[in-house]
Amino acid sequence: MGTNLTKQNRFDAIIIGAGACGLMCAVQAGFLGKRTLILEHNDKPGAKILISGGGRCNYTNLHTTANQFISQNQHFCKSAFAQWTVEDTITFFETYGINGAEKTLGQLFPESGKAKDVVKVFTDLCEQLDQEIRLNTKAKAITPIKDGFTVSYERNGKSNELYAPKVIMATGGLPISKLGATDFGMRTARTLGLTVTETAPALVPLTITGKQQSWYEQLSGSSIFSRVWNERASFEENILFTHWGLSGPAILQISSYWKPGESIFIDLLPNRSIVDIILQENPKQLLQTLLSGLFTKKFAEALGVYLPIQKNLASLSKADLQNIETLIHEFKVTPAGTKGYDKAEVMRGGVSTDELSSKTLESKKVPGLFFGGECVDVTGWLGGYNFQWAWASGFVIAQNI
Ligand code: FDA
Repeated sequence: MGTNLTKQNRFDAIIIGAGACGLMCAVQAGFLGKRTLILEHNDKPGAKILISGGGRCNYTNLHTTANQFISQNQHFCKSAFAQWTVEDTITFFETYGINGAEKTLGQLFPESGKAKDVVKVFTDLCEQLDQEIRLNTKAKAITPIKDGFTVSYERNGKSNELYAPKVIMATGGLPISKLGATDFGMRTARTLGLTVTETAPALVPLTITGKQQSWYEQLSGSSIFSRVWNERASFEENILFTHWGLSGPAILQISSYWKPGESIFIDLLPNRSIVDIILQENPKQLLQTLLSGLFTKKFAEALGVYLPIQKNLASLSKADLQNIETLIHEFKVTPAGTKGYDKAEVMRGGVSTDELSSKTLESKKVPGLFFGGECVDVTGWLGGYNFQWAWASGFVIAQNI
């Protein structure tokens, strides 16, 4: 097994991973006249792009700022977002035939509603720009040598290695191994002496177990517009009851800020006061009737476990009102855990931002080695933010290889 350096195998950089970051990096490098090779162990590029946003790909968010990202260094992503803005994402895709349609909260999807159109932009451009995507090829090790790296890989059961002066780790995060997720980026970082911050599933449903579970189970399928918060963050969107606990956008969002053992709180009637409503309504009305009007009959009945729903409003005591107020506006939930990486949209944590230049995303300890996308400790909210980070980091790296 020797380093194979035929003309065909001469690349300015080898990119590991044909996901959002790797594909954008290859294309942008191509625009600059640089030749890259992407190694991808799946049999197709962009597996996560294809299933993202329910197959429609929420490819950016109009409101992107550093505030929608979780990282040990909140400022780290600012340089990349200044170099590649949301406007740049929109213009890039428009140039190649994808117009954006805004859904809710600044989330942009292709007008066609097809994530595969997004992947096609990259595969077409890679072909035009002579950027090779080598599929069914698993990177096994990155070894720094004089003036570059050897990249060991496995293809069709055979091991081989390549040389490149620069290597880009665009290997993504840990969610959904059946889509190709691996820990290769983080493992390589550790092997080369780089710090990796603690990783955990994020944008992930939360589970409830024990005596509480059947209460959630009976409400499975019910959705309520709520404000969900803990001491670190607060989100106003729908929550969804499921057989095993809670999901829906507001829960996914708070899950990124949740740690095992902690509670979260839910305001089931945000921006209104349940006590004010009770005091204004017909006093002969049953509490259950009032709650059925504000929520659903099913939910009002389920609240009977906690509240005196058979009382009429006039007969509610001060203590009842206090209890109702707390339950509706500060519903406390202590999740047992998360649904894990198989159901997570993203990974929290990753290669420490301390290890990388925020301007170039190059490793400070291993010159020539770059990290971008989800394998870096920069985790976005739900709503197109993670792709904006993947595109921006891919662009930045392409400028610096
Ligand atoms: P990505 O995971 O895209 O690519 C990494 C690539 O590296 C993969 O193709 C993998 O196979 C490959 N790889 C790994 N190890 C390898 C090895 N050793 N050798 C060769 N190849 C290797 N975000 C968003 O902004 N809007 C959305 O709508 C959604 N929707 C969504 C839905 C679902 C179900 C999920 C799971 C995720 C999302 N996301 C999202 C998140 C988004 O998909 C994610 O943040 C980006 O794809 C990250 O891009 P990367 O390029 O970093 O990794």
